Amino acid sequence: MTDEHDLVLVVDFGAQYSRLIARRIREAHVYSEIVPYDIPVADLVARRPKGIVFSGGPKSVHVEGAPSIDPAVYGTGVPILGICYGCQLVAQQLGGEVARTGSGEYGRTDLSVTGSSVLFADQPTRQDVWMSHGDSIVRAPEGFTVTAVTDGAPVAALEDRDRGVYGVQFHPEVVHTPRGMELLKRFLFEVCECRPTWTMSSVIEEQVEAIRALVGSEQVACALSGGVDSAVAAALVHKAVGEQLTCVFVDTGLLRKGEAEQVEETFLRQFHMDLVHVKAADRFLAALDDVVDPERKRKAIGETFIRVFEEVARDELGSARFLVQGTLYPDVIESGGTGEAGAATIKSHHNVGGLPEDMDFELVEPLRNLFKDEVRAVGEELGLPEEIVWRQPFPGPGLAVRIVGGVTPERLGILSEADAVVREEIKRAGLEREIWQAFAVLPAVRSVGVMGDERTYAYPIVIRAVTSDDAMTADWARLPHDLLERMASRLINEVPGVNRVAYDITSKPPGTIEWE
Ligand code: XMP
Repeated sequence: MTDEHDLVLVVDFGAQYSRLIARRIREAHVYSEIVPYDIPVADLVARRPKGIVFSGGPKSVHVEGAPSIDPAVYGTGVPILGICYGCQLVAQQLGGEVARTGSGEYGRTDLSVTGSSVLFADQPTRQDVWMSHGDSIVRAPEGFTVTAVTDGAPVAALEDRDRGVYGVQFHPEVVHTPRGMELLKRFLFEVCECRPTWTMSSVIEEQVEAIRALVGSEQVACALSGGVDSAVAAALVHKAVGEQLTCVFVDTGLLRKGEAEQVEETFLRQFHMDLVHVKAADRFLAALDDVVDPERKRKAIGETFIRVFEEVARDELGSARFLVQGTLYPDVIESGGTGEAGAATIKSHHNVGGLPEDMDFELVEPLRNLFKDEVRAVGEELGLPEEIVWRQPFPGPGLAVRIVGGVTPERLGILSEADAVVREEIKRAGLEREIWQAFAVLPAVRSVGVMGDERTYAYPIVIRAVTSDDAMTADWARLPHDLLERMASRLINEVPGVNRVAYDITSKPPGTIEWE
């Protein structure tokens, strides 16, 4: 896929921001990948990048074990842009001076452009930028021009056009640097002379070709979960090989209200796919009988899923040689595929939907190079409905880990209805894309209430709504009070068995997003 596009490599020095840099570069329609800082320079060059960006990092260049890069990179002739820590590293490695001035800058900072500059061309001489640094560059290396300063940073940007090495102390990739994208584009198009060819239609075209070449005339299977990734992967493979694809959708009975119908409607009636819809709610409920411990729930559901899938595979997928997986680029990075520095973010969840290990399929992973927002854009371009493309993340074990204690058909019914109300109101308020996840939780307590003249003794519903970038950390969403009120009154009036509503105001950490 990548041979047809110019490539810019982001060298990761351990910053959360390296992904954001790669995403911004791709938003400018240039393909970008993340590589670890200890990559041998020969390997870097072998990828034939048109440009290299050094990311920020959490460390000071002065601490022991601070991540560094082989200085041979400066002799490759490939243009380099250092950002934050990356900028300080450039200064230090090429003979400048980085000092612990004791006066760092954090947050919005006023920047002055001090001279003619390739990166700041056509930009105002004063602008806001986002800073986050303790150390400061106090002397630029020989051959470099200082192109911007701030009150606290005598060298806030520097460049050596002859060598093609540039650096900015601030973060052009974050939205709080309003002209940051312009600056990145100057680097991509003026300095690196990249072509803006990375578009979602080019991705679709290339993937369709690649899938056809890989699969030939063989049969392909795909397990649909109802989520975005497997849906987009299936739609892509279907576009490539049509009837050679069989999709299996295991309805665990633990899905969100309306989800199973939506999957049928979309894949069967709209896309005319060969869809095996396995209605296995009874088996999952039986497996959950008397199970209250969260990890045991996950295990019971995971094992049942595997049994069910094995049976379908035996009966319906006997001739399939390939299996579609909705692996995304962040999964590839996290599993060490590219060795993102300090990748401390590996999920411990055993994913339900994990397939039997001894199955002998070859994998088709058409989304391996894509970020989530790109997957959504591909899905939209393939004509998948908004409800699927913009679906919020949902745990594999489904509603079972939102029912604290035992999962019974009655309690599942209550939660499913309550969850639908919460999601509907979030959507109606236009907050669906802004909120990472919003859902209902059913605790294992009951409380007293009064409705009409009657005393009630029923379940509360807890509303959980969080903002997050990656689910590793999250904050409770500051939902408007009138929205909470609407939800509460609908939950109590429309969902039998509910007489009280609470809002969860725990961030992660210390809480988790799910209750179990
Ligand atoms: P927590 O609750 O750990 O969740 O803050 C982080 C993200 O992971 C989802 N989640 C799961 N996903 N299988 C999954 O596929 C699971 O067992 C599971 N548990 C939690 C959760 O919805 C959130 O997006």
